[in-house]
Amino acid sequence: MVKICCIGAGYVGGPTMAVIALKCPKIAVTVVDISAPRINGWNSDHLPIYEPGLEAVVKECRGRNLFFSTEVEKHVAEADIVFVSVNTPTKTHGLGAGKAADLTYWESSARMIADVSKSDKIVVEKSTVPVRTAEAIERILTHNRKKINFTILSNPEFLAEGTAIKDLFSPDRVLIGGRETPEGQKAIETLKDIYANWVPKEKIICTNLWSAELSKLAANAFLAQRISSVNAMSALCEATGADISEVSHSIGTDSRIGPKFLNASVGFGGSCFQKDIMNLVYICECNGLHVVANYWKQVIKVNDYQKSRFVNRVVASMFNTVAAKKIAVLGFSFKKDTGDTREAPAIDVCKGLLGDKARLSIYDPQVTEDQIIKDLSMKKFDKEQPAHLQPPSPTSIKQVAVVWDAYTAVKDAHGVCIMTEWDEFKKLDYQKIYDNMQKPAFLFDGRNVMDVGKLRKIGFIVYSIGKPLDPWLKDMPAVA
Ligand code: NAI
Repeated sequence: MVKICCIGAGYVGGPTMAVIALKCPKIAVTVVDISAPRINGWNSDHLPIYEPGLEAVVKECRGRNLFFSTEVEKHVAEADIVFVSVNTPTKTHGLGAGKAADLTYWESSARMIADVSKSDKIVVEKSTVPVRTAEAIERILTHNRKKINFTILSNPEFLAEGTAIKDLFSPDRVLIGGRETPEGQKAIETLKDIYANWVPKEKIICTNLWSAELSKLAANAFLAQRISSVNAMSALCEATGADISEVSHSIGTDSRIGPKFLNASVGFGGSCFQKDIMNLVYICECNGLHVVANYWKQVIKVNDYQKSRFVNRVVASMFNTVAAKKIAVLGFSFKKDTGDTREAPAIDVCKGLLGDKARLSIYDPQVTEDQIIKDLSMKKFDKEQPAHLQPPSPTSIKQVAVVWDAYTAVKDAHGVCIMTEWDEFKKLDYQKIYDNMQKPAFLFDGRNVMDVGKLRKIGFIVYSIGKPLDPWLKDMPAVA
């Protein structure tokens, strides 16, 4: 029986390996992690991450051919194929701080693989890494004196949180990069055969190592750029009376542009877009490509601009101050159907409002109080580190209350900010919400999911990104 071991039981390692185990019952898959709480979670009824459909997949294979363990070295030693899916956060200090990828976790995994291996292995880069990382990893692996052959493949993951299982079941493509040597090509075929158990062969793209590594960074940069492009347009819409939904629809019907990823919002979040673009910027700078680096930097700048523009809109419309006013924040995760808050725009928006001394009442269906308090008190990039390396959570932040339903959050509030597009927010009784709020009652839709006309009819003063402004907001200066 072929044995796979995956190092890193996170948002990528857990779901990807669960799906491989489901689709390939003849392969034994073990996911290992140094974090005991994470592994305990995977072995319990409360999985450590929320992802629609994941529980059913795990329940079907766990104990059959899917295992979760903290015995990292044992399972790596026994495996034929080792996937490495550890974090690659942004460096917080030293050379390249704030931009370069921190490969500490990757490097220590590679050294451990080299130390414990007794048989030949295919080592698969699942984490998103800077282009040419495989070269460095190869050096670490092949500098062991045991005459073991390691073949490195790059197999970046394209799943999106919130739809991970759907994406893994029918991916747009699977990308496998390898060396153009006979061993490299043989390893590509081995991995291709695994995916071919459920992915049509024409969707499995094989390239050289560097193309595969760079394609992942490029894909994330292009996706984030699309969001920043539509968000940049949304600011212009507000200034001119155009409606971003109409503009998005009009341009999206052009088959060269396409309709996806054209929804204006308070900005993108998630653990990947910002970190991968900064990593791309750093690689460009290291290669002397400063114009290219500056081009991609703008994508982040527009994203930051969009978040501060949103905060300014909130403060400006509420008589230029939110001090001591209760603001309800609905949604904290970076998108719906996930409990992940890494780089969530809600964090920067909440910090901005707290900076103006607002009182916040926050509700998210999946994010815990502990996580919210941590996020609001932690420095940027710290939260990309593995949980066990993050600073311990402070007991509370005075002006923040985390509550367990939307109606409690909005009670007596002066304003409501919708930060995540959870479906349940669309179904709330907004008349009841309005009746229980201070007047004038403001609603700021950071995701453009609300029916603005209906809300205005109830009596709300509404701000919806990129939409024609409420007469109330027209003369309020809100440019960041
Ligand atoms: P994560 O933080 O959820 O999981 C990483 C896990 O690796 C943690 O549980 C950590 O304890 C473990 N780990 C770190 N060092 C270890 C070691 N030496 N031995 C054993 N375990 C170790 O991270 P996530 O989100 O799963 O991301 C992993 C990689 O996949 C990153 O490079 C990320 O950029 C990439 N990626 C993430 C996507 C996402 O949607 N989250 C999508 C596509 C790629």
